Amino acid sequence: MKHLLITGGAGFIGSNFVRHVLAHTDHYVTVLDALTYAGNQDSLAGLDEARMRFVHGSIADSELVDTLVGDADVIVHFAAESHNDNSLHDPRPFLDTNIVGTYVLLEAARKHDVRLHHVSTDEVYGDLELDDPLRFSEHTPYNPSSPYSATKAGSDMLVRAWVRSFGVRATISNCSNNYGPYQHVEKFIPRQITNVIRGIRPKLYGAGLNVRDWIHADDHSSAVLTIIDNGQIGETYLIGADGEKNNKAVVEMILAEMGQGPDAYDHVTDRAGHDLRYAIDATRLRTELGWQPRFPDFAAGLRDTIAWYREHEEWWAPAKDATEAFYARRGQ
Ligand code: NAD
Ligand code: TYD
Repeated sequence: MKHLLITGGAGFIGSNFVRHVLAHTDHYVTVLDALTYAGNQDSLAGLDEARMRFVHGSIADSELVDTLVGDADVIVHFAAESHNDNSLHDPRPFLDTNIVGTYVLLEAARKHDVRLHHVSTDEVYGDLELDDPLRFSEHTPYNPSSPYSATKAGSDMLVRAWVRSFGVRATISNCSNNYGPYQHVEKFIPRQITNVIRGIRPKLYGAGLNVRDWIHADDHSSAVLTIIDNGQIGETYLIGADGEKNNKAVVEMILAEMGQGPDAYDHVTDRAGHDLRYAIDATRLRTELGWQPRFPDFAAGLRDTIAWYREHEEWWAPAKDATEAFYARRGQ
């Protein structure tokens, strides 16, 4: 039994990880979350309170972090500003949380000699051409495009520096695009599903040919747990489930599943600097640590996700209008 300090545990992937840990281990969990627009305590509703406590606060608050880290065996660091479009509009919170917040956690991990797992993204590697036979691996050079991916790249570098210079016991994972329940309606898949539910046409940036490598959030969680248990200190593992699809194909799948015609979407203004393609080679994680995805069937996972959004309007409705107003101001 370990005590995990999970930062960002009220967010999309963090809350999935909390549920995963409570279901599959006997660990005790402390969630530290600032409850920004992206955090939602309802995502943790109904979980075993005897094995979980919630602390409302920021990872950039060094006094609070020091107290919490002192009690933990492992820090699992999900907290971040996570949306590219927001980072193009206002980069500052991305620096404060993704860079300074990660620094604060690293200093506490160093002081208390607590193991840390840093959750990062494949977007640190920039993008690939559509016809490039190569995929991202642990050896791909960093080449981030947006303020979001640049701050995540910076946070990865900080973790490596704290491992090498101060002996902090840390691992890093870089995962591809996640989907599943409890994802904020600003993100691509839930935005389109909830648009269709609301009678709004899905919005595709540009031509819609950009490719993302989709993985179910629960597979991300099982991979992170595997790395915490068996990963080598100082090492990086890429997480992906061979789920490449272009955005147009995903919108068409959503429309078909929701009983709409294949053309019932709009093309809107493209994202500035829009990365063309992400693709992960997760060979290292599979061969060295024996991990494999349990939900590799994207069509089945998407069906379940659509059903979840249909059944949980009370969870997403409060954020929907403000999110669409933000996009409308940007012509998206
Ligand atoms: P999210 O935006 O849904 O959740 C982020 C959570 O962090 C929220 O609960 C928010 O309240 C919290 N938070 C933000 N600033 C904070 C602060 N200063 N202190 C404490 N808590 C704070 O994000 P997500 O999609 O769940 O992503 C989680 C992590 O996974 C991020 O580090 C992200 O970079 C990484 N990641 C995401 C994806 C993806 O597809 N969403 C893919 C790979 C990696
Ligand atoms: P997103 O969910 O924002 O994730 P990321 O930028 O981290 O990949 O977007 C996924 C893809 O979908 C990306 O290529 C941008 C595109 N997109 C749209 O076409 N329409 C939308 O309304 C949104 C939000 C994203």
